[in-house]
Amino acid sequence: MILVTGGAGFIGSNFVLDWLAASDEPLLNLDKLTYAGNPANLASLAGDARHIFVRGDIGDAALVARLLAEHRPRAIVNFAAESHVDRSIHGAEDFMATNVTGTFRLLEAVRAYWRSLPEGERAAFRFLHVSTDEVYGSLAPDAPAFTEQHRYEPNSPYSASKAASDHLVRAWLHTHGLPVVTTNCSNNYGPYHFPEKLIPLMIVNALAGEPLPVYGDGQQVRDWLYVQDHCAALRRVLAAGRVGETYNIGGHNERTNLQIVHAICEALDALRPRADGQSYRVQITHVTDRPGHDRRYAIDAGKMERELGWRPQETFETGLRKTIAWYLAHPDWVAGVQSGAYRDWVAKQYGQREAETAQ
Ligand code: NAD
Ligand code: DAU
Repeated sequence: MILVTGGAGFIGSNFVLDWLAASDEPLLNLDKLTYAGNPANLASLAGDARHIFVRGDIGDAALVARLLAEHRPRAIVNFAAESHVDRSIHGAEDFMATNVTGTFRLLEAVRAYWRSLPEGERAAFRFLHVSTDEVYGSLAPDAPAFTEQHRYEPNSPYSASKAASDHLVRAWLHTHGLPVVTTNCSNNYGPYHFPEKLIPLMIVNALAGEPLPVYGDGQQVRDWLYVQDHCAALRRVLAAGRVGETYNIGGHNERTNLQIVHAICEALDALRPRADGQSYRVQITHVTDRPGHDRRYAIDAGKMERELGWRPQETFETGLRKTIAWYLAHPDWVAGVQSGAYRDWVAKQYGQREAETAQ
């Protein structure tokens, strides 16, 4: 079996669902169920004996040691993290606790377990660390995309904490020999994406008649990857990635934020037109920019293609269509995540942001 951490979050839950759809190998899912973890994402697995869910913290060394001894996984896929840049600007404590200290404690517990394995199992064991392109910092408009050789230049508390975790993972290989592989992926989107991030926030706000808050001029560029393409890439890396290597994963889909928001408005104009016949674009509002906002990310995923034969299956157009269709078909899921805590976050993040221009 494999152990997945953070498997009730956005990417983790997609990975768990895809894994159990593609194989019968059981999966132990360790998740703290923070505001971002949602058991409803895994509701379709109720009663499925291949999925064992444990609520707990990757930083709880005793718990992790017990789970490893009991379930004897052949691999770990580490998704567990605090993942939202804006929250890390409001307060970075949880980011340091989970992304840095939590990763350290997890690595230590896994190292002790791995050392206890018989020779063959020890050699086959893998620790796959799921990281982000944000560790590389911001690119100039005409600069080549990030390769695995790009220097680490994290700019936000979130990306600094992820960079720290990547360095810990690297050190546990070089010093202790733990067989690790790290992936650095671009922006994901798709089903079960918590609506604090750009794409789901714009979809749910548009449908609710709320403003569509674009930070600054909206000309920041991100590379977007459909979440199931990321999950397929991770399965390839787990199966055939070389120990000690890092792999950049991306969608070859560079878009400005404003292009993304316009594409969402156009899709919704066709699928669920506003009652007054106007385009959802009338809801776009430019608001105060994110402090330290990275201008551009772009991923060179050539190594994934050359070494592991992976390429994304979705274009941005097909992926966005699937995503919007999913949100339109799951109003109960959306209502379920918009709890009091979610409303408090929206008030804190957007309440004091000045509307600069409307368009
Ligand atoms: P998410 O915030 O949706 O989910 C994180 C999950 O981790 C939640 O279920 C949460 O409950 C759990 N968790 C948090 N702290 C924990 C702890 N101490 N112990 C156990 N579980 C804990 O995040 P996501 O968007 O699914 O991202 C997953 C991973 O992928 C993160 O490591 C993130 O840095 C990385 N990543 C995300 C993206 C993206 O676009 N979302 C892109 C590249 C890399
Ligand atoms: O690049 C990978 C990273 O992508 C992951 O490591 C992070 O976990 C993930 O959250 C994501 O980070 P971003 O900061 O790029 O994603 P977010 O959806 O928060 O923002 C995307 C862009 O949209 C960014 O330029 C900020 C902008 N934005 C975001 C929100 C929430 C807005 O203009 N308005 C908004 O309301």
